[in-house]
Amino acid sequence: MTQQINPDKLPKHIAIIMDGNGRWAKGKGAARLFGHRHAIQSVKDVTEACGELGVKYLTLYTFSTENWGRPKLEVDGLMNLLVSTLNDQLDSLMSRDVKLDFIGDIGCLPDKVHRKLLKGKEKTKNNKGLNLILALNYSGRWDINQAVKEIASDTREGKIDVEDINNDLISSYLSTKNIPDPELLIRTSGEMRISNFLLWEMAYTELYFTEVLWPDFGKDCLYNAINSYQQRERRFGKTSEQLNIS
Ligand code: IPE
Ligand code: IPE
Ligand code: MG
Repeated sequence: MTQQINPDKLPKHIAIIMDGNGRWAKGKGAARLFGHRHAIQSVKDVTEACGELGVKYLTLYTFSTENWGRPKLEVDGLMNLLVSTLNDQLDSLMSRDVKLDFIGDIGCLPDKVHRKLLKGKEKTKNNKGLNLILALNYSGRWDINQAVKEIASDTREGKIDVEDINNDLISSYLSTKNIPDPELLIRTSGEMRISNFLLWEMAYTELYFTEVLWPDFGKDCLYNAINSYQQRERRFGKTSEQLNIS
């Protein structure tokens, strides 16, 4: 499978909306949290595969600002799962040279979760392999909102001129400022929507939707998505003919 992947056309950044844990559990007659627990193996497999292939950034939509609206039992279970997974996986991330980072309003997560995240980030900060970015208490509109506030405040204080505001400046105020825009977005579970994920950053991202539920998503599913991406012509508004002039 990996032989079909062209290493010269590898996406630098893959973003994933990991969806379908609840339906996966329901299909087995189990509680939703059972699905979330099984989702961790898919996270491990995909992280490992990205590291092996040489993908530089992997962003996983882990908990959206809208997910606070779920039943308390599920939210608490997800928070506990986050802490226990970080505990269990930190050594493995270190041995794989994975650098952990976060986007989203993580300061508003429960204290024990927040502390664990900062610890994980600190411990892995010198790693040079895959950048694994978890989107937590994140939404695209939240990020744009906080960026607009900062830009307005810096303009008022005279740190920037209104004329300085352009695409690059806006990008530099988002929580994704040090991360290139994703070339490929994968969403599992058959849903074909963005659900408030990287709204600004996905202006030209290739979208890949699969019916596979996230707990069933493995390395081969990732290779299929990358293969599909590599067969696309990314025109960025130009014509095919323009792209093919060598
Ligand atoms: C994705 O799976 C995980 C999170 C949003 C945390 P879901 O929990 O949304 O699963 P479905 O969509 O209900 O099947
Ligand atoms: C998106 O999935 C959020 C995450 C994967 C963390 P949801 O399951 O919450 O999205 P909707 O509600 O189906 O749009
Ligand atoms: Mg869902």
